[in-house]
Amino acid sequence: MKRLTEFDQLADPTFSHAVIRWQRTHGRHTLPWQNTTDAYRIWLSEIMLQQTQVAAVLGYYARFLERFPTVQALADAPLDDVMAHWSGLGYYTRARNLHACARRVVEEYGGVFPGDPALLADLPGIGRSTAAAIAAFSVGARVAIMDGNVKRVFARVFGIEQYPGGKRVEDALWRRADALLPEQGIESYTQGLMDLGATLCTRSRPDCPRCPLKERCVAYATGRTAELPVRKPKKTSPEKRAALLVVIDRGQVLLEQRPGTGIWGGLMSLPEVDGHLGVDVDAVLASEITVAAAQFGAVEEIQALRPLVHVFTHYKLHIAPWQVVLSERGGATGRHVWWDMERIDAAPLPAPVKKLLLELGRPGLFN
Ligand code: ADE
Repeated sequence: MKRLTEFDQLADPTFSHAVIRWQRTHGRHTLPWQNTTDAYRIWLSEIMLQQTQVAAVLGYYARFLERFPTVQALADAPLDDVMAHWSGLGYYTRARNLHACARRVVEEYGGVFPGDPALLADLPGIGRSTAAAIAAFSVGARVAIMDGNVKRVFARVFGIEQYPGGKRVEDALWRRADALLPEQGIESYTQGLMDLGATLCTRSRPDCPRCPLKERCVAYATGRTAELPVRKPKKTSPEKRAALLVVIDRGQVLLEQRPGTGIWGGLMSLPEVDGHLGVDVDAVLASEITVAAAQFGAVEEIQALRPLVHVFTHYKLHIAPWQVVLSERGGATGRHVWWDMERIDAAPLPAPVKKLLLELGRPGLFN
């Protein structure tokens, strides 16, 4: 008996049939880069449509073709002229690559785009998926695309539980896409996948009831269209630690002017003891705190307060506040002021520091 390969196991002609049937009745058929096999026009549209929506591309596409009607005209034009016609579309590397690609097509292929997706993918600005789209639409090559929209469709239909941007998952998606290619109708199939991703299987609020794949869609069946595809895992933000001195004496708290730049730049704050503050070094910390606090007077007692965590955009700050009781004031510099606790609400303090001081004295604050 014949052993089934992974490719055979993934194959399922009913998948492409459903996409093709849907595309022919409900897909888009009148976009200006459709109903042509002119590889130049198809290539130009695919490059413009990378990272840009159809509605934003339409005007640029028409003006561009008017100025550069052939790949030869584009190759002959100065780069500045190409850039000027791209101006406003964004991602300008695309325009520079477009121009370099036109020149190579003229020089290496006599102005005729190759039909082989591997040769197309060797040209500037053309990745594997764009090469496949150009080859499918221009010469009917039976090759798979896998852009952001198709990844979303596949992640939902097949219930792919891992982030689809990673190498391993991406390779598996390409294998699946290869196995699902139709024997016939590659143009409708390729356009159908694009149309599904752009019109029904949208990132938010997909229109599942109208989808030709709903009976086979894992995300739809399990109510997880909002969770799939899995989002890119967040890089864990770095964590920093700082101890803050809460030196309170006779109804006043000692505040310190922060440097003009950096976090909380220009605000006042509590005196900070930074440096090598570890997690489990309470004993070391207590002696460091005592030394640091001594610059503000004679230290009678120190006491750890409840730690706080403050989340900035790029890191997490663990704040260890220490209450310091002085038996005598002294030593504060020009960057320090004694501020009445009663007026703390009016102090130019960062929110978490102000909150800490406002809560001081409430029950449960001391460890
Ligand atoms: N996005 C990428 N290629 C496209 C195409 N051919 N039609 C519509 N949107 C697309």
